Amino acid sequence: MIGDRIDIAAAYLRAGNVVAIPTETVYGLACNALNISAITKVYSVKERPYFDPLIVHVGSIEDIVKYAYLDDPMLVKIAKDQMPGPLTLLLKKRSIIPDLITAGSERVAIRIPSHPMSRELLDELEFPLAAPSANPFGYISPTKAEHVDKQLGSKIPYILNGGPCSVGLESTIIGVEDSRLTVYRKGGLSVETLIDYEGNINILESSSSNPKSPGMLKSHYAPETSLIIVEDIEEKVKKAIEKGLRVGALTYGAFQIECDMHLMLSESSELDVAAGRLFEYMRRLDEAGLDVIYTSLVPEEGLGLAINDRLRRATA
Ligand code: TXA
Ligand code: MG
Repeated sequence: MIGDRIDIAAAYLRAGNVVAIPTETVYGLACNALNISAITKVYSVKERPYFDPLIVHVGSIEDIVKYAYLDDPMLVKIAKDQMPGPLTLLLKKRSIIPDLITAGSERVAIRIPSHPMSRELLDELEFPLAAPSANPFGYISPTKAEHVDKQLGSKIPYILNGGPCSVGLESTIIGVEDSRLTVYRKGGLSVETLIDYEGNINILESSSSNPKSPGMLKSHYAPETSLIIVEDIEEKVKKAIEKGLRVGALTYGAFQIECDMHLMLSESSELDVAAGRLFEYMRRLDEAGLDVIYTSLVPEEGLGLAINDRLRRATA
């Protein structure tokens, strides 16, 4: 069921059930992070392998400190400035956090969402929420309650509807490694913002083998229709149409392309607009029964880094 009742969501969560919740980044598939049986339900609903750990969501920095050690001065400063927001910290966990949450790692990923409904929900609850993005493992993340309903609606009792996600890309995951500020996943908080705190930043790229943060698995966020990144999109689309294929195009900036379905990430070339539309448009194109979807990378700056990262992984 989809609804906007925080009390109903809270009651299901207290009873050990899984509930989809809105955040400013993407919708999450939430459960009580301290309840083992609830956590196993999240893994099974999402069909997620147990080696891929879950992010813990809390309401305040005081709560972060209850569940993890936040003692690096740089991370403290960034947390104070940027949380709540699209940022996740990878911190040494306290023993109260179950190993099932971290897939056995010493470190827990933890964040404070800024969406007013998730904040209200967290305020009302006595426990933190573990929540991966509310999509089947490997598929595109949901940015509307309807996306969750379509794929997981029959498997969970409640979807808390908070409208479309304002950021539309998952949180940026950071931590400190060998005393260097390290980005494990590019996301809704830009790398430029982080570089303002520490110029000597270490940005890890996704890899298909031995990922440090499994969110770095190369093939991820993937539509079922093949998505291809090209430079000369107009020419590629034209050739594919000549071959008799049903063709989609996903572009950035204002220009028209003749094809079966053309969606523009931002007519006005604004990266935050494109970020907000990216997953929704990938879904729409994927559901249109096309043979192939062509796209091009956006400018490699600001949110463009995270957008291009998701595009590359959707094509891997
Ligand atoms: O914006 C977000 O972060 C959203 C919303 C719902 O909060 N959540 C999200 O969760 O994107 P998920 O599970 O789809 O992606 C989290 C990534 C996973 O790829 C996971 O491998 C990584 O973070 N991760 C979580 N805990 C970790 C840990 N303890 N160590 C290393 N990586 C971790
Ligand atoms: Mg995910």
